[in-house]
Amino acid sequence: MTTAVEIGDDADAVAPSVQRRIYGRRQSHRIRPARRRLLENRLPDIQIRLPEDGSAINLDELPSQQARSFWLEVGFGGGEHLAEQAAANPDVLLVGCEPYVNGVARLLSLIENADNVRVVIDDARLLLKALPTASLDRIFVLFPDPWPKTRHHKRRIVNPETLSDMARILKPGGELRLATDIMSYARSMLSSTLANGQFDWLAQGPDDWRKRPEDWPQTRYEAKARTAGRSPVFFRFLRR
Ligand SMILES: C[S@@+](CC[C@H](N)C(=O)[O-])C[C@H]1O[C@@H](n2cnc3c(N)ncnc32)[C@H](O)[C@@H]1O
Repeated sequence: MTTAVEIGDDADAVAPSVQRRIYGRRQSHRIRPARRRLLENRLPDIQIRLPEDGSAINLDELPSQQARSFWLEVGFGGGEHLAEQAAANPDVLLVGCEPYVNGVARLLSLIENADNVRVVIDDARLLLKALPTASLDRIFVLFPDPWPKTRHHKRRIVNPETLSDMARILKPGGELRLATDIMSYARSMLSSTLANGQFDWLAQGPDDWRKRPEDWPQTRYEAKARTAGRSPVFFRFLRR
């Protein structure tokens, strides 16, 4: 494909401590013509590129109208959650980060002409480093790749380093939402987030993490997990 969405292999001009290394798919099956047209025509209006000089992204320069708040979704997959949140919250600017181009094309087909969505086609770990301190009101990381083998755990996107980046870029009182259907990942998400020391877990009882809140649309991976008989967990944390 010729759309300018390339991701360098290990090149990293943004944050020397993080290698740009995407472990999952970047593109799989052929993108159908209508979605390819969206990538060519619509994507350039809403794509954000990471500054190559290591400078921070200025979120205030992004919205076409003043946004009340800024939310980030890491690894939005097919974009169903992001598109629904954007439609339900027109005064929020939603930034989605997803290296899988077919997923980006699907998101574009869902958001039509919404002007409160921006897309980063890159490694979210680099984006987390490039966002300004205390700039976001909410971050979602929903059903991230679980990497179940112990030797692959270091690939997990929710880890002590990314949590400390997320704590830095969230505003005080901002919210972090995490979901997974893999219990070893759930345990590690919970223990790492609490160990970070800058988050308070909002759960008062089991229903608060076993049931998805009403303002939290279902994603494709949640549906897959339920079909396979797995019960996901939904974590909400407030940045202190
Ligand atoms: C298991 S899928 C879940 C997708 C979606 N959140 C859902 O719940 O349906 C994980 C997603 O994370 C994306 N991903 C993997 N590594 C990533 C990275 N380093 N930065 C951003 N997204 C990443 C994958 O491309 C994939 O779309």
